[in-house]
Formats: sequence, structure tokens, C-alpha cells
Amino acid sequence: MAVSESPWWRDAVVYQVYPRSFADADGDGIGDLAGLRDRLDYLAELGVDAIWLTPFYPSPLHDGGYDVADYCDVDPRLGSLAGFDAMLADARERGIKVIVDIVPNHCSCEHPLFQAALKAGPGSPERDLFLFRPGRGPDGAQPPNNWPSTFGGPAWDRLPDGDWYLHLFDSSQPDFNWHHPDVVALFERVIRFWLDRGVAGLRIDVAHGIFKDPALPDVPAPVINHAPSPYYHRPENQALFRSWRAILDSYPVAGFPGARTAIGEVWYDKEATLLPYLAPGGLPQVFNFDLITAPWDATAIRAAIDATDAISNGSQAPWVLGNHDVVRPVTRFGVRQARAAALLQLALPGSAYIYQGEELGLPEVLDIPAQARQDPTFRRTGGARLGRDGCRVPLPWSAGGPSYGFSRTGPASPPAPWLPQPTGWGSYSVEAQSADPGSYLSVYREALRIRRSHPALGTGVPGDGSGLRWIDDAVDGPAPAGVLHFRREPGFEFFANLGPVPLPIPPHQEVLLASDPAIQGHSVSVPPATAVWLSV
Ligand code: GLC
Repeated sequence: MAVSESPWWRDAVVYQVYPRSFADADGDGIGDLAGLRDRLDYLAELGVDAIWLTPFYPSPLHDGGYDVADYCDVDPRLGSLAGFDAMLADARERGIKVIVDIVPNHCSCEHPLFQAALKAGPGSPERDLFLFRPGRGPDGAQPPNNWPSTFGGPAWDRLPDGDWYLHLFDSSQPDFNWHHPDVVALFERVIRFWLDRGVAGLRIDVAHGIFKDPALPDVPAPVINHAPSPYYHRPENQALFRSWRAILDSYPVAGFPGARTAIGEVWYDKEATLLPYLAPGGLPQVFNFDLITAPWDATAIRAAIDATDAISNGSQAPWVLGNHDVVRPVTRFGVRQARAAALLQLALPGSAYIYQGEELGLPEVLDIPAQARQDPTFRRTGGARLGRDGCRVPLPWSAGGPSYGFSRTGPASPPAPWLPQPTGWGSYSVEAQSADPGSYLSVYREALRIRRSHPALGTGVPGDGSGLRWIDDAVDGPAPAGVLHFRREPGFEFFANLGPVPLPIPPHQEVLLASDPAIQGHSVSVPPATAVWLSV
């Protein structure tokens, strides 16, 4: 059937909402679902197909909500289930689908199952749902193995009763024992709970880390993150994802929201590591983080694009420039470069994920005072790693006023936002940029508008492999170093100058869009750190 042959997610532009930092409707300094609901028109105008909503579940917020205390409810600070439904209904009215975040590797230490396990004591069946073990050494004072926490320090904490429990992340995030059938059953219920409410898909947190080698062996030093290991990329993960795929596929594809998708957060050192996740009947999609890890260098970026293309394409492994875990592209690449990177991302075949604020060109906020920092990475490394707060600073909506319009203000002034916004944040605001046709936001809006209507963009013309053909020859000979130049049919070329000197614009009929608004129809060259979309 046609609907299932080309599911919507293959070329969707998905906007990642980090709800606590998006918009605050009740004026308590914390973003909420009502704030998101208020701003759906903004997202519709931007032209996105779907929203990926990071966790909004009840949580003590030791890891920004990725420490879930109840998988089937809404944190009262962020709203209610009724509020979620209302937001979903309004999104649907605007043709925007919603993807929710499923966090299966671990829960919060405040989850009733972990609380019951703590109470029940060593050797109890309640503890079997997690990874409790006695310690090593004569008095059990050494952790059961040498696994590190991703956030720094060991992956084990000891309880007063002598048992240790595993947490690949913060101590407040105990890992589930996925070999236990009750854990499997719990998440089937959770997945159905959200699908039944009408969500279009799932983003699966730490999809590569769910199953552990039951023997919990030591890992060789130095530990290589994101390669197969006793806790990453275990083959058992794939059987689990096949069972989840069957659940997703059991929901009707006809009508809104269409085929349900699941996108795995799979960090990897080699593209081939992604392949098993994408095997038929497995996860429809995994993130492709190559544009996050690549430096601003044409050879490296081209290699990253080719590597992903070789094993799948951007439909199965959407392109990502940033998210709530990494330094913002403007700060990684540079301001001009990040705009050019956005045009690259949106011209590549397949689907693209945009993290909130990327469309405003927000930089990473690097000078958040230590006492205001929230990321457990900062605390667990004694400040050696700044952590991820700098990309989670609440969005500026207005050019001025308290919290730059982040909190809806009543008669009283609202409390400060949960993370401080830097001075001058208002210059990045939606209000400040909307009126300026050359602003970052205007370029994004225009890019999404063209992408929706141009037949070469998105998935493009099927049957041509990746849908992308590199052009290696410049007008007068081989392409200069530092160029990314490709063609997509019909009649579209992408050209970016990553080198140090201006380069001639390749022959074309029309400049559809440029990352530098100074480039017009009559321009003859492309300055450094600039990309153009050409009609040819
Ligand atoms: C994922 C999330 C990250 C979180 C971690 C633990 O990597 O993206 O924000 O801290 O999982 O849940």
C-alpha cells in the first residue's frame, strides 16, 4: 500500500523540544507543555513535520528528566496528561506529529520499583529487576567490576546494606536488568500507553546500552566508549527492538499520524555498528551523529556523508547537527559555518533533526556560574567537564523584558529561568529575528519552505542510491580543496566553500538560497564559510 511504502518519517524535518527550556506558560521559570502548546504556531510557521519531545515525565530532575520516576504521567511542573493530550490535539490540527522519548536503560532512583528493591534488601526478587551485586574484595568494598559511568566516576554505588547497583549514568539512574521479563513487560505497556494517546513515534534513549553481558565482566583499559563491549551494542538489543517494531507496526498507518517510527539513540565509533539496528524488522531509524562529530573540514564532512550513505541513507539515519547533549553548532563550527552547515543538513537526502534554538543560531553558553549548573557531569567530574547546560539555556522569544519572553509574565515578575540566560540573549530572539529577512531564523524558514516544495530535496528521486552525486570538477579543472559540491535531481546543486578564499559560484539558473544573505542573483562568488542552494 502506498502509505506504508513511503512513510512520512523518511524525509521528515523533526524539531527537538527540550520542554523545560522551550517556553514557560505558568510563569514559574520552568518551560512546560502549555508553553509548547502556545508556540505550536511558531513551529508550524517554521515548517517542521514533527516534534521530538524529550522527557516530560515525573522526575527528580537529577539528569534533566532522563531519570524517570513514572513513565506514564507528566511531571506536575510541566503539566498534566490532559495538558499533553491538548497539546497533541493542537499539534495534530497543524499537521505536526509528536515523538516521545522512551528511557529504557534506567529509571530514577525514585521510581517505585527501585524504591521497592531498596526496601526489600539483598537477594530479594525486587532487586532482580535491577543490577544489584555484592562487591569485590574481602569486605566487598570494591565495585563488582571496572565499568565507568558516562558522567564520570564508577558505574556502581554501594548501599548501606552492602549491595552495589549499576548505573551507567548518574547514581540517581539505576540500570534495569533487561533479562527480567517484568522489565520487558513494563516497557511494552509504556510504549502502548503513549502510542494509544496518538504519538507518531518513539525516540529510544541509550538504545545501544540496554542489555548487559550477564556475567558483567571487566572491560579492558582504556575503555573505548561507543564500541561493542559488555554493556554496549549487545546483540540481545536487536531482538527487543524487533518486538517493539511489531508493536509499532500493529498501529494503523492510514490517516494521521501515519506509520509509527522509532529512532534509536545509538552512539557508535564506526558506521557499521549501526547496521544491525537497521536490519529488516528492527528499528526504522537510528540517529547518525557524523555531522556532530565531524570538524569543519570538507574532506571530513564528505567522508562522514559517504560513510552514512554507504550503509543506509538519511532516511534511516537522519542528519543531526546538534542536540541537548552536545555543544551547539555555532560554537563548534563558528557562526557563519553553522549557517552553512544548516543548509548542508537540509539539502542531504532523507530526514533531518533540528534542536530547538539551532534555527535562532544560539551559541553555547559557556559562562554559566558553577552554582547554577545542573548537569550531573559537572558535579561528577568536579567541574573538569562543564557538561551540557550550555546548550539547554531557555529560549529567548522577545527582544527584551524579563527572561526575554521565555516565561509568560503576569502582574508580578516571574522567577528567573531555571538556567540563567546571558545578557544580550534577546538579540537572538524570535522577535528580533522575525523582522529581518537576513536573520538566521529567516534563512531556516526559507530553507524549510524550499525543501518542502523542491522535488530534489528530502528523499528526492528514489532509485538513485543516495540521491546525491558529488561534483568534483570546478569550472576550470578539479575542484579546489575545501569544497562540498553535489547535485540532486531534478536540477538542484549544493555548493559550500569551506576554504579560506572566495570561490566562483558554479554555473546555475538561480540562487535559491544562500547562508549569507548578501549573496544575490548577480553574485559571482561564494565567500569562505558559505553555502548556496542552486537551481541548475
Ligand atoms: C541520553 C540522553 C542524555 C541522558 C542520557 C542518560 O544520552 O540524550 O541527555 O543524560 O541518555 O539518560
